[in-house]
Amino acid sequence: MTGCQSRLTVLGAGYLGVTHAACMASIGFEVLALDTNAAKIGQLKAGQLAIHEPGLQELLEDGLRNGRLRFTTSFHEVAEFGDVHFICTGTPQLPGSDQADLSQVRGCLRQLAPLLTRPCLVVGKSTVPVGTARVLAGELAEMCPDAELAWNPEFLRESTAVADTLQPDRVVAGVSSEWAEGILRRIYAEPVARGSAFFVTSLETAELAKVSANAFLATKISFINAVAEVCEAAGADIRMLSGILGADPRIGKAFLRSGLGFGGGCLPKDIRAFAARAEQLGVGQALSFLREIDAINLRRRARVVDLTLEMAGGDLGDVPVCVLGAAFKPGSDDVRDSPALDVAQILQGMGARVTIYDPQALANARRVCPDFRYATTAFDAARDAQVVLMLTEWAEFIALSPDDLGAVVARRNIIDGRNALAPDLWREAGWDYRAPGVTAVPAAVRLGSETVR
Ligand code: UDX
Repeated sequence: MTGCQSRLTVLGAGYLGVTHAACMASIGFEVLALDTNAAKIGQLKAGQLAIHEPGLQELLEDGLRNGRLRFTTSFHEVAEFGDVHFICTGTPQLPGSDQADLSQVRGCLRQLAPLLTRPCLVVGKSTVPVGTARVLAGELAEMCPDAELAWNPEFLRESTAVADTLQPDRVVAGVSSEWAEGILRRIYAEPVARGSAFFVTSLETAELAKVSANAFLATKISFINAVAEVCEAAGADIRMLSGILGADPRIGKAFLRSGLGFGGGCLPKDIRAFAARAEQLGVGQALSFLREIDAINLRRRARVVDLTLEMAGGDLGDVPVCVLGAAFKPGSDDVRDSPALDVAQILQGMGARVTIYDPQALANARRVCPDFRYATTAFDAARDAQVVLMLTEWAEFIALSPDDLGAVVARRNIIDGRNALAPDLWREAGWDYRAPGVTAVPAAVRLGSETVR
């Protein structure tokens, strides 16, 4: 990649920033990524990735080796180097509020803008409340009249972040000029040539594209989990039901897996911030249903705790409990708002002796929850347990042999918090198998489920 706009900078070297920087370098751009955390930048310069993300380590090493990917803590260097600056800082939930904390995005722009000395495009990728970009564009224009702001939200999912960045379903270019549109078209020319859709729109629509997608996904998950509550009361089977619903192409199979519900660094905080922003705009009622989506989601955690209590005979005091899974989803080591860790914490608070195992997230879990016992294999975690909870559906857990695991536990009680195990296999091996949304399943329904793959 040569010529104008081939030199990109990425501000913020978290999940989004490192992935974007490494992927852009891999398709030929010269990339300089900044973070104010000097220790993190030191590690990245040495090729050390602090996150588990399939394929990213290789891209980082390639970029460092061929010199197209560099890291810095200096805003001066970034301003000097780049024609296009991507803002990829985090927007976590503000403590004590449902709103997003925009201080990192604002801080980044305020440090960069006064240093810009030639025409350039600043592109926001962070998830922000609608209206933020317009305000920031005004601030940028005041500080640096030659710079322009665009908004280009990121839709990457953890565990498939590299593929989602190199070949996104859609690229959304929220722009205020044809000049900015042209730059983004050139940057994303490769994925668009291979089939990614390219949408040119206003700053506001671009901001909403991200939060409304996440709100829709959260709604789909909470919808199926709300129906799971009814299934439990009516003696129906949510797994079978979600298969039936998903067979309707208007509904679709994706995001209809019932279980412990959603967590992570995006969905929970994004629906809260979206509802909070709607209230500020005077249309709170329009998104009031998102509060219910949140409540349904949190009720799933309480339901799994109730199931554990039932299996333990009504008292968790000193009961050895094994929790398989700490990451908020498989394929990731991220424990932010992890449903698995949340359930583990509640159980421990009720007196249970919880031992946790996760294939990738143990270090992060230890950091945020130092009080649990941690094991380095599923079998060690399950040794002498009275109840085993499978709360993150890693392939390693789905492949567990019920007989082998049964040999180490005190009692064969398992809760499949993700509706991911094969119930018949576990029941045949003598386990009491329970899952949210699945009650004592009538034989006819079980027969039916065997015919649907
Ligand atoms: C999400 C969005 O998918 C992504 O587009 C956005 O950029 C960031 O937020 P991510 O947080 O990585 O991505 O995870 P995702 O795969 O969406 O899963 C979110 C949560 O929903 C996980 O806890 C997962 O276990 C749960 N989930 C997902 C379900 O409970 N059921 C499902 O059917 C699907």
